[in-house]
Amino acid sequence: MHGNLPQSQLTTAFGAPVVDNQNSYTAGPRGPLLMQDIWLLEKLANLNREVIPERRMHAKGSGAFGTFRVTKDITRYTRASFLSEVGKETGMFARFTTVAGERGAADAERDIRGFALKFYTEEGNWDMVGNNTPVFFLRDPRKFPDLNKAVKRDPKTNMRSATNNWDFWTLLPEAFHQVTIVMSDRGIPKSYRHMHGFGSHTYSFINAENERFWVKFHFKTQQGIENLTDEEAASMVAQDRESHQRDLFEAIERGDYPKWTMYIQVMNEEEAETCGFHPFDLTKVWSQKTYPLIEVGEFELNRNAENFFQDVEQSAFAPSSTVPGIAFSPDKMLQARLFAYADAQRYRLGVNYHQIPVNAPKCPVMSNHRDGYGRMDGNYGSLPHYQPNSFGQWLEQPDYREPPLKIDGNADFWNFREDDDDYFSQPRALFRLMSADQRQVLFDNTARAMGDAPDFIKQRHIDNCTRCDPAYGAGVAQALDMEAPVPEKLEGTSPDLAEAL
Ligand code: HEM
Repeated sequence: MHGNLPQSQLTTAFGAPVVDNQNSYTAGPRGPLLMQDIWLLEKLANLNREVIPERRMHAKGSGAFGTFRVTKDITRYTRASFLSEVGKETGMFARFTTVAGERGAADAERDIRGFALKFYTEEGNWDMVGNNTPVFFLRDPRKFPDLNKAVKRDPKTNMRSATNNWDFWTLLPEAFHQVTIVMSDRGIPKSYRHMHGFGSHTYSFINAENERFWVKFHFKTQQGIENLTDEEAASMVAQDRESHQRDLFEAIERGDYPKWTMYIQVMNEEEAETCGFHPFDLTKVWSQKTYPLIEVGEFELNRNAENFFQDVEQSAFAPSSTVPGIAFSPDKMLQARLFAYADAQRYRLGVNYHQIPVNAPKCPVMSNHRDGYGRMDGNYGSLPHYQPNSFGQWLEQPDYREPPLKIDGNADFWNFREDDDDYFSQPRALFRLMSADQRQVLFDNTARAMGDAPDFIKQRHIDNCTRCDPAYGAGVAQALDMEAPVPEKLEGTSPDLAEAL
């Protein structure tokens, strides 16, 4: 790996030659040290500052650079210039992650996988910060910090806790759809190359006529879906804690570039009023029968980072990073994410994190943000630093104004649980698409994952499963050696989803 490198000579951080890198500068052979051993001081000081905060979630990840190419014309839906022409290529960077594990965690764990893409377009960076599942545990961002605490380490034992985890999940039935997916045969992808990606939220597209459409993003792996069983994952972790990193890195090194096809589902603004379901509810999918997948393009990952810390660890993705033609939706989970990511990154990487090469847009940047720790460029030199000014600087770009978005309603702590509480119909449809073998895997994975959680929590989950489908409740109950209740009547409808995942 390090063969044929030209020789290099050691210097201090300021370029002065280092005379001796083996022996400290001391008064006599037995010491003590002399304060003027500046190279020792510099080495020790630097070591103390090498660690930066890890991401609060999605801390363990793998990344690579790649290329996106448009394969179908979707200009009737969006004016995003990187999607304007079939054949057009855009450079990108992707980072895939597990969620709950810390920076040194094993890869082959049962967990959601993050699926974050950064497109370096000529109109700025578009970050598509998704997961490998089309739904999420929550509908209201107020619960996100609690979710994070529940799945991470217990404050006393410093261990992950099945009790904390399942107590929280089972008290929030809106999490049931996501829990079912994580406990299913898709809960441990074999590698990052063998999973789909989803934007999960509803976003919006704006076209050249300034019309708005609601969209969902899908990225289908061209490698095919492959998963590990709990048993395979356990033996994988015993042999190799970095199985996802190794798989992705080595595939790219040998030229076997992984690819994903991008699709969208589209709904127009009027349909959102009449479609009969809540189109901005992150715990639900849109039926692919009613809203078929429309192909957009494909991307391949074809270059590993030369330095992991520089590009992968310091990469910063944010749903707020978007380009003309792609915008947000009223989904309150998405709205909260528009704050959370850039805020986390200013803390994790510093206020000038947008200048780190992997994060820097490949188009001109004229934000007029100045100064701050670690400013690396000319800091806009002598340009006037206020606006409005009489010198033609920092002009607004009103051509990119989006159409007005109609919203109304009284301010309150709106509780969806009171009037929109269909938690089970979609996981029911998913469960009914499963083969008998897949169902058994779901039951067994659930029972193992519930581990030493107390019986009343297990019972609460069995009850939720039964409300979804009596066969689901009975299966989990049997796997846990417990009782399933007899349901009075099933809640919600049973929608016909052409393909649930
Ligand atoms: C990472 C917050 C929901 C996908 C993060 C980070 C924060 C965060 C603070 C760390 C960012 C950093 O340090 O760079 C939240 C909040 C959420 C939420 C407050 C809900 C209210 C979601 C959802 C998805 C998602 C619904 C997927 C659909 C990701 C991914 C990363 C991430 C993929 C890792 C990005 C990377 O590779 O650097 N999240 N998140 N999150 N989140 Fe979320």
